[in-house]
Amino acid sequence: MEGKVGKAKMAKSKSYNWGIIATGAIARQFSIGLNFAPGAVKYAVASRELQKAESFADEYGFRKAYGSYEELLADPKVDIVYIATPHQFHTENTIAALKAKKAVLCEKPFAVNAAAAKEMVKTARENNCLLMEAMWTRFIPAVQKAKEMVEQGEIGDIRMITGDFGYRTEVGVPDRIYDPAACGGGLMDVGIYPVSLASMFFKEQPEEIQALAEIGSTSVDELSAYLLRYKGGELAVLYSAIRT
Ligand SMILES: NC(=O)c1ccc[n+]([C@@H]2O[C@H](COP(=O)([O-])OP(=O)(O)OC[C@H]3O[C@@H](n4cnc5c(N)ncnc54)[C@H](OP(=O)(O)O)[C@@H]3O)[C@@H](O)[C@H]2O)c1
Repeated sequence: MEGKVGKAKMAKSKSYNWGIIATGAIARQFSIGLNFAPGAVKYAVASRELQKAESFADEYGFRKAYGSYEELLADPKVDIVYIATPHQFHTENTIAALKAKKAVLCEKPFAVNAAAAKEMVKTARENNCLLMEAMWTRFIPAVQKAKEMVEQGEIGDIRMITGDFGYRTEVGVPDRIYDPAACGGGLMDVGIYPVSLASMFFKEQPEEIQALAEIGSTSVDELSAYLLRYKGGELAVLYSAIRT
């Protein structure tokens, strides 16, 4: 999380106008979720096709529909932008939203490499805007409770974390997960969850990383494992899968 949503704006009003970028599967889930978020106003949605935005707005109760992402970003009434495009567009969409002075909640994976992530954080700082990854697993009550227990010293120092996230689908379903051009593969889709969990608990970058992957017929990792070693000798033993 970086910067602030614009403190003055937040202090004056307790409701925020959300703008959704893209109308795919997770944008639909998220729009349902917004119904339960205090102060969230379902204000605008943008698609590359106006008709898609209009039918999404009708179905999920948004006030405005835009036929391009740029038009949504140009609307001064949008306070927070949720980015729900495929992985490879997160950086470009986030940077455009931050430059338009919007707070941003970006879908996971935040970025597809460290250089892109750094650029996003830098842009958030330059524009003094909040930037957050939609890393929902950090908010699961059991995870919050575990964090609280660790912070209060209830279970002592953590020496090792094990974590995994996997599922099985047929090759090509969905397309983008099996497409290397769309930064597909298990690490980017679900491996990032246990990696995020390890960084949440260890609160620092690992000193050393080793990984192995089984690359499938479409040239993405279908099964992969990661070993992370931290400064104090702590280890994270993590893995993910999309065909297992
Ligand atoms: N937090 C979670 O639990 C969770 C779950 C699933 C997915 N995600 C993340 O959310 C992102 C989107 O996933 P999704 O499952 O919603 O994907 P999806 O169903 O394929 O939707 C992606 C949307 O992005 C837009 N888009 C822009 N450029 C595109 C392009 N060149 N090709 C295809 N679509 C394009 C499209 O909306 P328009 O046509 O309206 O512009 C499309 O509907 C991914 O990065 C994924 O990792 C997160």
